[in-house]
Amino acid sequence: MCGIVGYIGYRNVTDVIFKGLTNLEYRGYDSAGLALRDENEIKIYKSLGKLVNLKNELEKRKSELKNPVSGIGHIRWATHGSASLVNAHPHTCNCGKLAVVHNGIIENYKELREELIKKGCIFKSQTDTETIAHLIAHEYANTKNLENAVRNSVKKLQGAYAICVMHKDSPDEIIGARKHAPMLIGIGENENFIASDTPAIIEYTKKTIYLDDNEIAIVTKNRVKITDINGNIIEKRIEILPWEPVSLSKLGYKHFMLKEIHEQPDVIRNELSGKLYDIDANVILNEVKLNAETLKNLNKIEIIACGTSLHAALVGKYIIEDLAGISVEVEASSEYIYRKTTTNASTLVIGVSQSGETADTITAIKQAKEKGAHILIITNRPDSNMARLADSLIPVNAGIEVSVAATKSYTAQLISFYLLAIYLAEIKTHTNKEYIKNLKHELIQVPAKIEEILSDTTQIQACAKQFSSYKNFIYIARGVNLATALEGALKLKEISYINATGYAAGELKHGPIAMLDETMPVLSILIPGGITYEKILSNSEEAKARNAKLIALTSSDDGNIANLFDAVIKIPKISEILSPAVACVPLQLLAYYIAEFLGKDVDQPRNLAKSVTVE
Ligand code: AGP
Repeated sequence: MCGIVGYIGYRNVTDVIFKGLTNLEYRGYDSAGLALRDENEIKIYKSLGKLVNLKNELEKRKSELKNPVSGIGHIRWATHGSASLVNAHPHTCNCGKLAVVHNGIIENYKELREELIKKGCIFKSQTDTETIAHLIAHEYANTKNLENAVRNSVKKLQGAYAICVMHKDSPDEIIGARKHAPMLIGIGENENFIASDTPAIIEYTKKTIYLDDNEIAIVTKNRVKITDINGNIIEKRIEILPWEPVSLSKLGYKHFMLKEIHEQPDVIRNELSGKLYDIDANVILNEVKLNAETLKNLNKIEIIACGTSLHAALVGKYIIEDLAGISVEVEASSEYIYRKTTTNASTLVIGVSQSGETADTITAIKQAKEKGAHILIITNRPDSNMARLADSLIPVNAGIEVSVAATKSYTAQLISFYLLAIYLAEIKTHTNKEYIKNLKHELIQVPAKIEEILSDTTQIQACAKQFSSYKNFIYIARGVNLATALEGALKLKEISYINATGYAAGELKHGPIAMLDETMPVLSILIPGGITYEKILSNSEEAKARNAKLIALTSSDDGNIANLFDAVIKIPKISEILSPAVACVPLQLLAYYIAEFLGKDVDQPRNLAKSVTVE
């Protein structure tokens, strides 16, 4: 969480940092701030809330600024200390000569703070970050060398940090350092950048160096020096970013979320190409680095993920067990890391993450790796920390996703699971060949079916309007679409703040049915031909008998559906096993339009962030 941008170069420093922060705003948006080196001074600007407030603050005080030559900026997602002006970054030391921005959590900050107070430091905020500022300032007073001061200081920090530091008396450099939090350097001509994520720099350069844990970057206008924590120089590889700046534009859509929902057919086509091109040929998945013999004998898979990625994992479990007959366990990363697991060297562990930076999932993957498991990562960010831990890496190639609510990265994850399940089934060879062939045929049709939904969203918009005033929803489904119900409810919750719960339809009568009345709509996912269709219809009848308003998401032509349900969202015909890849789309749209009607901040819902880099 939080976003960091540092710049030193010939451009308008304020503009570069502000633009960079704008492109990182999806990471956090409680408050924001800048430290600029201008006329031999460090000038600090802060504001509460969204970046537009920082823009206004800069505008108000623009006469103070002459010609800034470097700067660091930050957008905050509060961890230690409330979202307030005093807790906003950058933080400074007693004399105000040093400024620091920080992403992560310093676990021993209380002890350090007490020591520093004894040495005369005066703390203004409740943050852990301010400790870093005083610590480095103290070291600087002894060494008069910023690089060494940062190095000596970070050795004392426990926890996670990506920091960017500047000092009035060390005018030509910005120092970056990281441990368990992402940080990269953007390389330009007569200019260089530091950032916590690539969107901050993509407009200016595609040349990047990723810092690894315990590395320090000394960045000047014309040089980037990377050292380890002891000061030894490290030669790092320059990587070229795969993104284009255009992917950060809304391209005429009102919100990034809507744009990203509409990108799904192309994302899926892109993902299938080269892997599934002929239904008579086996799926090609060269990304899986385990040999066929090992895969044939594989009998346990564990999938670890959080949030929406966890829902993709639930679909993954269902289809891998169905198609390949391999037993799959799915667990939230945050649970996996705090228990004794049975993971061992013969387990295939799959980590799923849109961002590739989710702290809980990274920790879980590291634990599984230590136990000798083969690690397969499914992510939209092949440049992420999680991707670097992979023995096998499946990049879902959905293109950068800006909206905090994951949409296209979810469908892309689902498609990866379908490909993986078919790949494993074809290696195992015991699954009915005709069944697999039909599935492949249908998988190729998925983008067109989604296009059909996107081409006319009037029924979804009408349903959103009809139900936008309700305060509680239950989404029910069974089997492979239980994950769709959970994901649909999560989408509604996160962008409209309406209490929506996904439930296994059969569980309704074991408790939740007590809540049902005319104020609690029930949305049922009904895929005819599926083994649970009739059962979900009965569960819906039970809800109706308790006066609940009913919404059907279905591909059924059954005329009785319109009689039973108060609203019907029709989707194209599709087999039950593949239906999650299509059924999730109208639920994304339903959440989107409800949030839109309610005037919510769709792309940046409150309290959330795109990359959850703290545990
Ligand atoms: C998705 O809409 C959510 N914003 C959230 O649940 C997200 O899926 C979760 O934080 C996991 O993130 P990851 O996929 O980047 O690991």
